[in-house]
Amino acid sequence: MIGFDKMKSTLQLRLSFTLAGLLVLMLFAARSARAQTRQVFRLDGGNSTYAFGVNERGDLQTLYWGGRLGPDDKIPAAHSYMEWASFDSSYTTTPQEYAGWGAGLFTEPALKVSFADGNRDLVLHFVQATPNGAQSLEVELKDISREVYVTLKYSIDADSGILSRSANIKNREKQSIVVEQAAAAQWTLPPDRYMLSYLTGRWAGEWTLNQEPIHPGSRVIESRRGSTGHQANPWFAISRDASQKNAGPITAAEEYGEVWFGALAWSGSWRLTVEVNELDFVRVTGGFNPFDFRYKLNPGEHLETPVFYGGYSDHGLGGASRVLHRFEIANVLPHAPNPKPRPVIYNSWEATEFKVDEPGQVALAEKAASIGVDRFVMDDGWFGQRKTDHAGLGDWYVNPEKFPNGLKPLIDKVHGLGMDFGLWVEPEMVNPDSDLYRKHPDWVLNFPGRPRSEQRNQLVLNLARSDVRDYVEGFLDKLLSENDIAFLKWDYNRNWSEPGWDQAPVDQQQRVYVEYIRNLYAILSHLRNKHPNVEIESCSGGGGRVDLGILHYTDEVWPSDNTDPFDRLSMQDGFSYAYPPQIMMAWVTDSPHWLNSRSTSLTYRMLSSMQGSLGIGANLNHWTAEDFATAKRLIAAYHSVQPTIVRGDLYRLISPRDGSEMSATESVARDKNQAVVFAFTHSTQEGRGFPLLQLQGLDPDAEYQLTFIEGKGLAGTPTSASGAWWMHYGVWLDLRGDFQAAAFRLDRQH
Ligand code: DGJ
Repeated sequence: MIGFDKMKSTLQLRLSFTLAGLLVLMLFAARSARAQTRQVFRLDGGNSTYAFGVNERGDLQTLYWGGRLGPDDKIPAAHSYMEWASFDSSYTTTPQEYAGWGAGLFTEPALKVSFADGNRDLVLHFVQATPNGAQSLEVELKDISREVYVTLKYSIDADSGILSRSANIKNREKQSIVVEQAAAAQWTLPPDRYMLSYLTGRWAGEWTLNQEPIHPGSRVIESRRGSTGHQANPWFAISRDASQKNAGPITAAEEYGEVWFGALAWSGSWRLTVEVNELDFVRVTGGFNPFDFRYKLNPGEHLETPVFYGGYSDHGLGGASRVLHRFEIANVLPHAPNPKPRPVIYNSWEATEFKVDEPGQVALAEKAASIGVDRFVMDDGWFGQRKTDHAGLGDWYVNPEKFPNGLKPLIDKVHGLGMDFGLWVEPEMVNPDSDLYRKHPDWVLNFPGRPRSEQRNQLVLNLARSDVRDYVEGFLDKLLSENDIAFLKWDYNRNWSEPGWDQAPVDQQQRVYVEYIRNLYAILSHLRNKHPNVEIESCSGGGGRVDLGILHYTDEVWPSDNTDPFDRLSMQDGFSYAYPPQIMMAWVTDSPHWLNSRSTSLTYRMLSSMQGSLGIGANLNHWTAEDFATAKRLIAAYHSVQPTIVRGDLYRLISPRDGSEMSATESVARDKNQAVVFAFTHSTQEGRGFPLLQLQGLDPDAEYQLTFIEGKGLAGTPTSASGAWWMHYGVWLDLRGDFQAAAFRLDRQH
């Protein structure tokens, strides 16, 4: 646990040899004495406590974020920090909860505005706090002279201790103001040695976990793309630098030690800035990406930021992701707290691409049903003049050549086979070769008179416009009303270029960064309310739109177009730091794989996908009788343990990252009645076998029966033993060779 007392002693140590240091200590003491009357706010949940207070100037100042404190512990009142010589004012050295840019602030501001008279100085002081029960609080700040108000919203989840923070910025001036930068929240940690973890990627290469020491300066993680993006994901974790403790870095960071983490709930351009200030505090600021951002607020208008979630664990990155998974399942997903495990799906994309038609889809559906698939999803190609990716987006009528009698015969057939039916759509896009674009060329993001850059031969509809929003909502509503559709795969296959909104007044056009996303959320929300049984997947050419904003409206995500089962192991590992297996769709596709030409067995592919929410995306027309039998057996096995895999506590026993030759995960049911373990080799060498797997999270006193789903243990592996045995003595797998896989379950004996 890190207290700001620790920070004080660090500072004291550093300063005690200097005259300046002595003066500062005297200043601290004097301020502490005056501090008794100043308000302190404290939120407790799960294993954590968060506290902030009002200092003697009226700034709202961070006081503590870490392990849960005793209920009667008194957190000392806030006092501003010292000026660092004549160069860094106290305003910039004091860690504020939400710093306005003004008064010589050199650290990242939460809020930067400009006023009609040219003033750009903003200093926010505390006005009042309104508690709403013990778990939430609203705090009002106001500029020292102007009528600009900010309401900071805090609420802490009693189970996980995860805080939700956001800000509402109101203009009560008589003239408009322009918000140039607005964060959802700022987080502060006192001086120490830390490691930063964050996720980056690209198309077909999402979810790389990066880990690096936090050095002085700033590390910016962002998207300027108009949407979340493949390139970086709005999640971070900060752990104490494990090398300090003389421990193995991966193990120490994975299962031991303090970790602070956060995730921004926004699907538009976003930015997280991790910086070290002059007094060595670490600050994380996250919210709307200020790049090209300008949000004019007329008198009386307000701007609401996204929510920035933040949490704490003292069980390393593993503990942090388990806390976050629980929170996401219990609080974020549309059917929280009890989202159903995802149906096992079949998806036609890799089998047929755009060549979909009724007989072809029926043939695939029959084969999919025979192996135990629950949901049949027809992907791209069914609408308009969609024969390739050059045409059709925007024209959402059923293609009459491919489906002469509409979708009904196929849907009826799928239902008759005992599955429900899902359909691919890409509602926010238009091909210039479409009736929609010919009719409404002004509906796309563009700057008049400038080129309209196409990507995948498509342009982005400007969803910020109310007529475009109505069109998109209208055709989807009609599609869902006229057809018995249980599921939409909502795709989004490019990022923004020329992000103009020429129908809006010039000084309002950059609102597009906010209004587009608000309208996207509004459409999703409207459709969910009107069609409560329809489930939705967020897909953006793979994992380009995965964040806690879209996850309020979508039940699952497509992590990557890369379905290579070996590549997927490290992607799934990276994904799991921020998001739960419940939402992580994973298809079994053909071998050799189209991306890497890698050949793997069907069993290996199945086990790789069974780590998440299982789907089949192979061309079943090419499967042998043996393939069907293997898939049927493993889908049945998956169904019987799926709740543990997708909703249990995940332990990353051996990471597949960084060229690891082996990997293993373990999922433990919340009641500890069951555990499911997957193990994979990339290659074994020089006769070495698979490393010992010492399991985690079991009840040491309970007896567990071992059942192999695939593979076997070395001779002498017991079929039943205590939780203590499996956690300490462990399991030696008989697993050797290239691209081999094993899986087993442990069930508590009652
Ligand atoms: C990108 C998606 O990620 C794929 O799964 C597939 O749906 C294609 N788009 C279809 O165009």
